[in-house]
Amino acid sequence: MKKLFAVLGDPIGHSMSPIMLNDILSFYEIDAHYHPFLVRRDELETAVKGLKAIGISGFNITIPHKSTIIPFLDEIDELALSIGAVNTVVNENGKFVGYNTDGYGFIKGLNPYMSSFYDKKVLVIGAGGAARAIYFTMAKMKPLAIDIANRTVLKAQELIESCPYESNSKALSLEEAELYLNEYDVVIQTTMIGMYPKISEMPISLKLLKSQSLVCDIIYNPLETQFLMEARQKGATVQNGIEMFVYQGALAFEKWTGIFPDVKRMRENVLQQLGGVKC
Ligand code: ATR
Repeated sequence: MKKLFAVLGDPIGHSMSPIMLNDILSFYEIDAHYHPFLVRRDELETAVKGLKAIGISGFNITIPHKSTIIPFLDEIDELALSIGAVNTVVNENGKFVGYNTDGYGFIKGLNPYMSSFYDKKVLVIGAGGAARAIYFTMAKMKPLAIDIANRTVLKAQELIESCPYESNSKALSLEEAELYLNEYDVVIQTTMIGMYPKISEMPISLKLLKSQSLVCDIIYNPLETQFLMEARQKGATVQNGIEMFVYQGALAFEKWTGIFPDVKRMRENVLQQLGGVKC
């Protein structure tokens, strides 16, 4: 029987996951369909029950349901539980088990440039949901240091304190991050600052950036934010948000099918959806 996979969110119309995942399902000749469902906040529980009743094989969760879905699942993986957000659910013999592949997706996307962090100083800019997934997953990998800079420093401090994995971390203001920027090997921009249409905005100045650093932005619209453009002009290696998006999807696909998919094909699919632009 044909299997069903899905993504639940609100809004959902612009999600690039259905085209990317249907392409990769048919590439591996898996008899399945991946469907986007618009689910309002007050209908999430009913939607999850409905998916269970029809025996869905797995699904993704996107904004605004990543945290609120937790009470409606049967089991939550340890990392997802500590992050407090689930983006992937697997139907394991009738039980809905929640995972978070955003953080590992981000880290896997860095592999071509960096696979271990034990001697690296990392700066995360922002303390929202995306920062949380990246910070917790990265803290597990024990970098030399991993600091968080945020407009509201208290939120960065709270994020550090809520992390169950021991790490050498401090909370900074955005001004402090600008001042100490030359200490960092990896800089990860996790806020929406610089996203279309406000494309000239930047969260911090890159005046003191080390030219050998790796600078990432989780934004992919535009493909190159002002932040990444200035980092590239200073000689840094840069990476946009496409890799995190593609790898979180690839890791979800692997959890559902046991196959780690062709990431190059998925990346090309996403770039095509974004208008045929090459990174
Ligand atoms: P998400 O879940 O998508 O990561 P979020 O939880 O709304 O989004 O978090 C947004 C992040 O962007 C926060 O770190 C926020 O800073 P505050 O904690 O101070 O609110 C940051 N942010 C948003 N707009 C900003 C701005 N204009 N200047 C600086 N930081 C901003």
